[in-house]
Amino acid sequence: MGPRAADIDARSGRGDDGTGRQVAIMDAPLSRSAPLLSIDRAFLARSGEVYRIRPIRRSDEAALRDMFRRCSAEDLRLRCFGISKTFPEVFANRLAGLTGGTEFAIAAVAPSGEIGGVVHAVGLPGAAGDADYDIMVRTDLKGQGIGARLMRDMLSEAVRSGFTAVHGDVMMANRAMLLLAGDLGFRRIGMEGGVVRIAAHPSADPSAPRGLADA
Ligand SMILES: CC(C)(COP(=O)(O)OP(=O)(O)OC[C@H]1O[C@@H](n2cnc3c(N)ncnc32)[C@H](O)[C@@H]1OP(=O)(O)O)[C@@H](O)C(=O)NCCC(=O)NCCS
Repeated sequence: MGPRAADIDARSGRGDDGTGRQVAIMDAPLSRSAPLLSIDRAFLARSGEVYRIRPIRRSDEAALRDMFRRCSAEDLRLRCFGISKTFPEVFANRLAGLTGGTEFAIAAVAPSGEIGGVVHAVGLPGAAGDADYDIMVRTDLKGQGIGARLMRDMLSEAVRSGFTAVHGDVMMANRAMLLLAGDLGFRRIGMEGGVVRIAAHPSADPSAPRGLADA
């Protein structure tokens, strides 16, 4: 059974995966100044559609909700580690309401205003310089390069925001995410209950290797 609404952590958009493993990131006092996102670029997807890659805005809430609602149950399970009927509302509201701090979100926005995908990074409490990421591409738009573009831009913005390590939790069955993360220099640093913990050390120097050497 998936998490109930009350079990969903609005910060990470995850809850108990049904095995008792809680993946929530707890709130804690944070001292870092607000990231100033500089990203704003056009991106040509394999479909020929041109997306604008830019920070999420307050006015994006409805488009985010729509994007999450158009994702398959399986993709939502891969993202949330369980079934969450409230995820589209809770997380769209959460992302659209970000005001900086140690958190940012970047979207791929179609000319129509529809959102094709969103990546989110949040600083880890008590671990200065460390962030966790999560990403979701609309199910019918997968395989067009949107996920790779968003991940690359998230890593660049993480460096600009002062993060030195970016972590992620990925279900072992999530081949697409594990392959994409591997291409971007992420390495596996742990595993628990069918979820792989991955990490990358993004660098301001684009020629430097980004991944951790080993677990
Ligand atoms: C993982 C995810 C973000 C990838 O986004 P995407 O836009 O489909 O990915 P891209 O088209 O940019 O592909 C990038 C790379 O990922 C890998 N990949 C993507 N889809 C794949 C698939 N079905 N099978 C194997 N590898 C795949 C490939 O290495 C690919 O590189 P290539 O295009 O050069 O072959 C997307 O599948 C998704 O949103 N999944 C559901 C949510 C989720 O799992 N989030 C991660 C946990 S937070």
